[in-house]
Amino acid sequence: NSEDGQAEDYLFKIVLIGDSAVGKSNLLARFARDEFYPNSKSTIGVEFQTQKLNIDGKEIKAQIWDTAGQERFRAVTSAYYRGAVGALLVYDISRRQTFDSVGRWLNELHTYSDMNVITVLVGNKSDLKDAREVSAAEGKTLAEAQGLFFMETSALDSSNVAAAFRTMVKEIY
Ligand code: GTP
Ligand code: MG
Repeated sequence: NSEDGQAEDYLFKIVLIGDSAVGKSNLLARFARDEFYPNSKSTIGVEFQTQKLNIDGKEIKAQIWDTAGQERFRAVTSAYYRGAVGALLVYDISRRQTFDSVGRWLNELHTYSDMNVITVLVGNKSDLKDAREVSAAEGKTLAEAQGLFFMETSALDSSNVAAAFRTMVKEIY
């Protein structure tokens, strides 16, 4: 039913989760618009962007939802997760506290969404080499223990940003 004669359109809802200031909104800005904001403010409520991806010759639309990491700025949690088939669970490699929160985010994800939602654990800000507090090995070990995919990204220098979204969409598809 699409203009180019394909039989089906795919629309996947993906949610961004993780503590405040880990870089969720900038990962989305980098992926969807190739933009980066050095001084971005906390997200208030919910925003989303739809991004087209070509996977194996099929056009897939990823509807990527972004909300605040801080409870007081968040909208209704159940509505945020409803219908999600993928999640990017983001922490900041330069702040261990954000890595320690991963378990709490996984609990919330599993409470409000389907158990088999495809989840990629993302250690963002890989450009901050001198400030690193969480090794890539630790991230990988946690991901393996929880059955998640794992990637380190940088919204600042773009590394692995598209790869993280594409990995997830490929697995969903
Ligand atoms: P909330 O909306 O409050 O949940 O935060 P968020 O997770 O959306 O974080 P946001 O994208 O607003 O980024 C927070 C800060 O980290 C901003 O100052 C960004 O410029 C910075 N930042 C985001 N990604 C990176 C990155 O990959 N590297 C570096 N060095 N800074 C980053
Ligand atoms: Mg944000």
